[in-house]
Amino acid sequence: MCGIVGYTGRREATPILLEGLRRLEYRGYDSAGLATISGNCLHLRKKAGRLAELVRLVSDKPAPGTLGISHTRWATHGGTTDVNAHPHLGGNNLVAVVHNGVIENYAVLKAQLEAEGYVFRSQTDTEVIAHLIAHFYEGDLLEAVRKALARLKGTYGLAIVSPRHPGMLIGARFGSPLVVGLGEQEMFLASDPSALVGYTQRAVYLSDGQLCVLTPGTWEILDRDRSVVEASVHAIDWELEDVELNGFDHYMLKEIYEQPEALENAMRGRLDDTDATAHFGGLNLSPRRLRQVDRIILTGCGTSYHAGLVGEYLFEELSRIPVEVEYASEFRYRNAPIDQNTILIAITQSGETADTLAALREAKRKGVPTLSICNVVGSTIAREADGGVYLRAGPEIGVASTKAFTSQVLVLTLLALYFGRMRHLSATQGARIIEELKSLPDLVRQTLECQETVQQVAAKYYQVHNFLYLGRQYLYPVALEGALKMKEISYIHAEGYPAAEMKHGPIALVDENTPSVFLVPRGAVFDKVISNMEEIRARSGPIIAVTTPGCKDAVCRADDVITIPEAPEYLQPILAVVPLQLLAYHVALLRGCDVDKPRNLAKSVTVE
Ligand code: AGP
Repeated sequence: MCGIVGYTGRREATPILLEGLRRLEYRGYDSAGLATISGNCLHLRKKAGRLAELVRLVSDKPAPGTLGISHTRWATHGGTTDVNAHPHLGGNNLVAVVHNGVIENYAVLKAQLEAEGYVFRSQTDTEVIAHLIAHFYEGDLLEAVRKALARLKGTYGLAIVSPRHPGMLIGARFGSPLVVGLGEQEMFLASDPSALVGYTQRAVYLSDGQLCVLTPGTWEILDRDRSVVEASVHAIDWELEDVELNGFDHYMLKEIYEQPEALENAMRGRLDDTDATAHFGGLNLSPRRLRQVDRIILTGCGTSYHAGLVGEYLFEELSRIPVEVEYASEFRYRNAPIDQNTILIAITQSGETADTLAALREAKRKGVPTLSICNVVGSTIAREADGGVYLRAGPEIGVASTKAFTSQVLVLTLLALYFGRMRHLSATQGARIIEELKSLPDLVRQTLECQETVQQVAAKYYQVHNFLYLGRQYLYPVALEGALKMKEISYIHAEGYPAAEMKHGPIALVDENTPSVFLVPRGAVFDKVISNMEEIRARSGPIIAVTTPGCKDAVCRADDVITIPEAPEYLQPILAVVPLQLLAYHVALLRGCDVDKPRNLAKSVTVE
């Protein structure tokens, strides 16, 4: 999704705007631009292509000024061209605007503005906003913005500056996130808090329908009718090193290796040894209310949906509560019967995924208590849910989600323990689970030692055109997740399936060029999976086995073996996914793919 950075303060804006865009590159984009104001001059620089193109343009033609806005564009309306890059100017260079979101009625508004003589340079919906503000401008920029917003249908996150109003930076939010960074004699505006790290640790998140007016020494949050809103200041507890590569070649690899620490952070302060249960500070639903829960809906998209599928097994086993897992994009349009003792848990790394937000809002419309499992503090879904649990995984920059998945599964395990201890789990059982959870980070550290073996496997198979991923029970969702990782960063077609499902059709795909990745650690269904491996071998399909030490029956049936440590079955998903993350990473590297910014993808899908 597009990235927005704005600045007003005592420093030159351009370096801050460019550094902020660099932090947001991971969100996916195809062009970039900025506009600064110095005196009563507006300086516009924008370019299709990577951020480096804009940096080159700005170094050839500097953009001076201590007020400015910048943008990375992920094209929705109009192709990837210099002209369609943001910022867009309104009127006679009266105002510059950058925009995240989609204006659904832009065509009607464009026709009206053209009829009034406004000349459009681009094919974007955003330029309509810029001319609309100019149309309403009578000396009060905020008033002109308010009037323009009232005409818009759709979603927007906006940053607006004008040479008529030196030092003033206006932001507006409806459906596309915006966060204000509070500095000393300087203010920041961004679409993602990672752009603020290193500049300030104080953030104010705008809610839908709110505006902000920033000057170097003041900040105001207003609602649509210009009345001041009492906004809370959140701490950004990320450090600069969290958004830097720190010696890794890619953010994805860094985040794969951050998983042990992320798991430790997710558990910190949440394991209650005294009562042999888990402890949360922000569920905001009483134990008595949660005790009545007799059905849980888990919803999310992509990797978060896969975490939910693991959660289904966890809740059923540890707390004996019926669970259904729904794609958020499906749930939001279904009319699922929901009784009063159902709760909905939205699972999301970014907290901004449009479909997941819509599913949450649909549940709330039906009066269903909602929780979120989210990584970004203050994000929309985290704020709109009745309560929730933060992952504390630190910023996840790589488009392919890794540490967020394992942290989501861990938090779901903690919730299942918590619910279980309210019901049938004994203190002894709870204490055992807590001890097993404490060993998890080190088990993941041991699992990461498989990287060298995984690199050899990747070298063998990186030119195939299809992969199958197969697992049972807790590891079926991991098969789906492994396939998604391979698809999204190496662009190889990959399918995840319940291992037993092969017989019902997909085995027709198997030949000597189609490797099958089997998740086959020691466990209750080990022998069943061995039988499925035999079925593949009988059709000359190559087999890559992810198994645990001493499983000779798996080793003798596999062409390649990746070993992970022994662990209780309900913890195996967090270990088994690690080699699959590494396999996708190394295959993508060998194929020359852009691991952190894969084609067509964005980190946070804030549009439908
Ligand atoms: C996962 O690798 C993908 N990047 C994508 O499927 C992602 O999980 C999905 O878009 C949901 O994002 P969220 O967790 O931020 O809601």
